[in-house]
Parts: sequence; C-alpha cells; structure tokens
Amino acid sequence: MKVLVTGGCGFIGSNFIHYLARKHPTYKIINIDKLTYAGNLGNLKGLNKKKDYWFIKADICDKPVMKKVFQKYRPEAVVNFAAESHVDRSISRPAIFLKTNVLGAATLLDLSIGFGVEKFLHISTDEVYGSILRGKFTENSMLHPSSPYSASKAAADALVLAYHTTYGLPALITRSSNNYGPYQFPEKFIPLIIHNALHAKKIPLYGDGKNVRDWLYVEDNCEAIDMVLHKGRIGEIYNVGGHNEYQNIAVIRGILKALRKPASLIAFVRDRAGHDRRYALSITKIKRDIGWTPRTPFATGLRKTIQWYTNNPGWLKNTQTGAYRSFYKKYYSKLGLSGS
Ligand code: NAD
Ligand code: TYD
Repeated sequence: MKVLVTGGCGFIGSNFIHYLARKHPTYKIINIDKLTYAGNLGNLKGLNKKKDYWFIKADICDKPVMKKVFQKYRPEAVVNFAAESHVDRSISRPAIFLKTNVLGAATLLDLSIGFGVEKFLHISTDEVYGSILRGKFTENSMLHPSSPYSASKAAADALVLAYHTTYGLPALITRSSNNYGPYQFPEKFIPLIIHNALHAKKIPLYGDGKNVRDWLYVEDNCEAIDMVLHKGRIGEIYNVGGHNEYQNIAVIRGILKALRKPASLIAFVRDRAGHDRRYALSITKIKRDIGWTPRTPFATGLRKTIQWYTNNPGWLKNTQTGAYRSFYKKYYSKLGLSGS
C-alpha cells in the first residue's frame, strides 16, 4: 500500500510512521510536513535508510504544491495528522488553527477525490465532544467543542463526513483521547511536567488541578489507527480511549515521585479559559467491530515515557527554539511564573 501521512514529523504522526514501517515493511510511505515549531525531522531518525520512504516539506494548505505531490506519488491511502494541536495556543491565536485544521483538511479532501484515493483516514480528537462529568461519549454523541482548537477539529470532522456523503470519498475518522509517549512536544502536559521537573522549574497546574483526562499510550493509538485503516468500515467514526482516567494533580504527583522531585515544584495558576473538566470515551464500537483494546496500563506507559525523556536530553533541548521560548515567556509571565 502507498500511504501519504501528513504531519508525520509531529508526535503521533512520527510514532505512526515508525509503527507502519515496522508492521508493514513493504508499504511505501510519503510524509508531508510543514515543520512548524512542533515538527521535528529528528523524530524520524533511522527511517531515511528505509527504501520507499519519502519526506516532503510542504504545507497541506498549499494546493498547487499538494497537487504535485498527489500527481507524483498517487497515494492509495491518506492519513491526516497535520494540525495545530495545542489548546493554549489556540486560545491566544485561533486563526492558524482554522487555516491548517479546516482549510488544510479541505485541500486534502479535494485532492483525494480528484486522485481517487481509496481510503482517507482523518485523525480527530475526543475534544470535539466537549466535557462530560459522568458517563462516556459514544460516536453518536453531540459535538460541543469548547476551544478554538476543538472547534476547528469538529469543523474538519464535519467536512470529512460531508465529503463521504456528497462525493462518496471513502473516509474514516478516529477520535482519540489524550496521547502520551516519546516525541511529544513539551508544551503538552506530561512532557511539560517531565521537562520542568528535570530542570527544577515550576510546573503550572491550571485551576484546582482536578480536571480529568483519559491517557492513551501513543503506541496503542498507532495500533488502533493501523487497524481502523485496514479493517474500519468506510464512513464510520471510531473512538479510541485509554481506559486511564486521572486527575491532573495525580499525574503530576506520580511523575514527581518517579523522578524523586519535590511537590513544591507544583504551581497552582489561574485556570485555562473554557477548560473542559473531564473527557471520557466509550470504546465499545472499536472493540466490538475491529477488535482493538488499549494494551498499556498507565503506570507502564508513564515509566517508559519518563525513561525516554530522561534518556534523550538532546531531543528535549532541541525543542527549546526561539518560537517555543517567545510563546512561553509571555504565557508564563501572564500566569505569574518566570521564564519557560
Ligand atoms: P503535533 O503538534 O505534535 O504535530 C503536528 C504536526 O503537523 C507537526 O509535525 C507540524 O509540523 C505538522 N503541521 C502543522 N501544520 C501543518 C501544515 N499546515 N501542513 C503540514 N504539516 C503541518 O500534534 P500531535 O499531538 O502529533 O497530533 C496529531 C493529530 O492528532 C492532530 O490532528 C491532533 O488534533 C490529533 N490528536 C492529538 C492528540 C494528542 O493527545 N496529542 C489526541 C487526539 C487527537
Ligand atoms: P494538554 O496536554 O494541553 O491537553 P488537552 O488540554 O488538549 O487535554 O493538557 C492536559 C490537561 O493538563 C488539561 O486539563 C490542562 C492541564 N494542563 C495544566 O494544568 N498545566 C499545563 O501547563 C498544561 C499544558 C496543561
């Protein structure tokens, strides 16, 4: 199979390319990434030696360039990870989220119709459903996105489904819960805690710290995405959850304990605007129809993740670019914390 992966230099996309290359060594993989602050070619070290792997630096919103890519490589499948993905950034600067997450997706959908792509798998998020205090969201639940990020993802989901209904595009969607694992940019909660703890920096904890996320080890999500790509029913949405619900404060305490760092590093700061209290997904559908369940208990995944970041200080250091610093300098000072 010839698979075009977008956003393959980001966290989940790069883990997915590694997974795909191991699981299906004969597949041809084309990786399109704009290399924003979140994209890192170092995430794909080792793959350059693989025959039938191509990296192209391009913006999914740039239709003429993307058309050339489709013309040249004629992908059979498209897996769209490319996105602006950080909620806090979407609150400060929503426009780029609408551009990449909605218009970028629309460009890929148009080209996929035009070039007869056989499967279009769109990677979405549990955040499109919004917050739920009790129970779990199913794939039929109403969408109530709270942030510009989740609103842009919900808009893209609606477009993907519309392209399926109107033009017959063979599309599928996965909506996963919060991922964690190697190669995650340290603006997201778990790598941020590890990074700040390792550097004895304060760790901002929003609000009362009791917001709940369902943590999914990234390798388990890659397995789910691969299974949906091969066994999913066209036109369907699949929730992918980790069965690991924890309050944020418990996650921080667990990591500080594992790293033998003091709880005094925790800094309660003002809450994120529109902060969703709890995310929770029913994964009955993907279990029943595809046979996927999450494999990694949180304690195991967290141990592996902490180990990976501790063993890769160079990777972590390389993320501290000008773009990272300028955002966090302003952002942390707004929160009453110094520097990044
Ligand atoms: P990420 O921010 O780590 O990576 C995004 C990648 O997309 C980067 O490599 C970036 O350079 C690239 N990119 C951004 N804009 C682009 C553009 N215009 N053209 C081409 N490439 C572009 O994100 P992630 O955490 O790996 O998330 C990947 C996907 O999974 C996103 O669609 C996100 O909404 C979804 N998702 C993430 C999580 C999570 O916990 N991280 C959970 C559910 C769903
Ligand atoms: P995040 O990793 O940004 O994922 P999302 O908001 O998309 O779920 O945040 C996970 C949780 O951690 C969320 O409830 C917000 C909280 N959080 C903090 O308390 N402090 C932080 O510095 C960050 C980045 C997140």
